[in-house]
Amino acid sequence: MTIGIIGSGAIGTAFARTLARAGIAATISNSRGPDSLKELVRELGPSIKAGTREEAGRADVVFVAVNWTKLPAALASLPDWNGRIVIDGNNPIEAPLFKPVDLKDRVSSEVFADLVPGARVVKAFNHLRAEVLATDPSADGGRRVLFYSGNDGAAKAEVAALIERIGFVGIDLGSLAVGGKLAQFPGGPLPNQNLVKIG
Ligand SMILES: NC(=O)c1ccc[n+]([C@@H]2O[C@H](COP(=O)([O-])OP(=O)(O)OC[C@H]3O[C@@H](n4cnc5c(N)ncnc54)[C@H](OP(=O)(O)O)[C@@H]3O)[C@@H](O)[C@H]2O)c1
Repeated sequence: MTIGIIGSGAIGTAFARTLARAGIAATISNSRGPDSLKELVRELGPSIKAGTREEAGRADVVFVAVNWTKLPAALASLPDWNGRIVIDGNNPIEAPLFKPVDLKDRVSSEVFADLVPGARVVKAFNHLRAEVLATDPSADGGRRVLFYSGNDGAAKAEVAALIERIGFVGIDLGSLAVGGKLAQFPGGPLPNQNLVKIG
């Protein structure tokens, strides 16, 4: 299973760091190209490579963490999704104004899914601040919790296995409409709940 990352900012880097800690290979990308990522991948270690957006976007599993208004450009003209898994790590709000996006009564992951037609979207890795996500998930005698939601059970099972492999405890919140909303910032009750499962 290959993993690509689109977005090398706070969350894309935090996700890459969790993979690197577990020695899992991935290709990370941004809008400026692989040369701009040389220092980052050197720091992350040998399992994480810098690539183009197109290289990251053709992986079996593509993790996306891009500023909300830049998602259409970041996801344009990539190879057909064809049932591949896309992890939506985004929230519908953007610095510096932090003005919530008008989603017209939809859940942000459903709006996101329209940008990756044919992909199996799983919402995950979006409920914690980047600096918390990046830290060792073994904490306080337990393991830090990550939530995931999606409409395809097999895709969720693959993301759940990845979450376990990198040392977190995964909790299935259900469909995008239900679980996506619970974990979405703003709007849901779960963002920034830094939970640790003991035992
Ligand atoms: N920061 C948090 O603590 C946090 C927590 C949970 C969820 N989130 C969500 O995660 C997403 C990313 O947030 P962030 O804080 O990581 O943002 P960020 O630090 O500003 O990073 C955004 C990344 O998106 C890339 N990007 C922009 N346009 C692109 C394009 N056309 N093609 C490829 N890459 C492109 C940028 O690359 P360039 O710099 O090369 O343009 C940059 O690497 C947002 O939806 C945010 O709501 C953030």
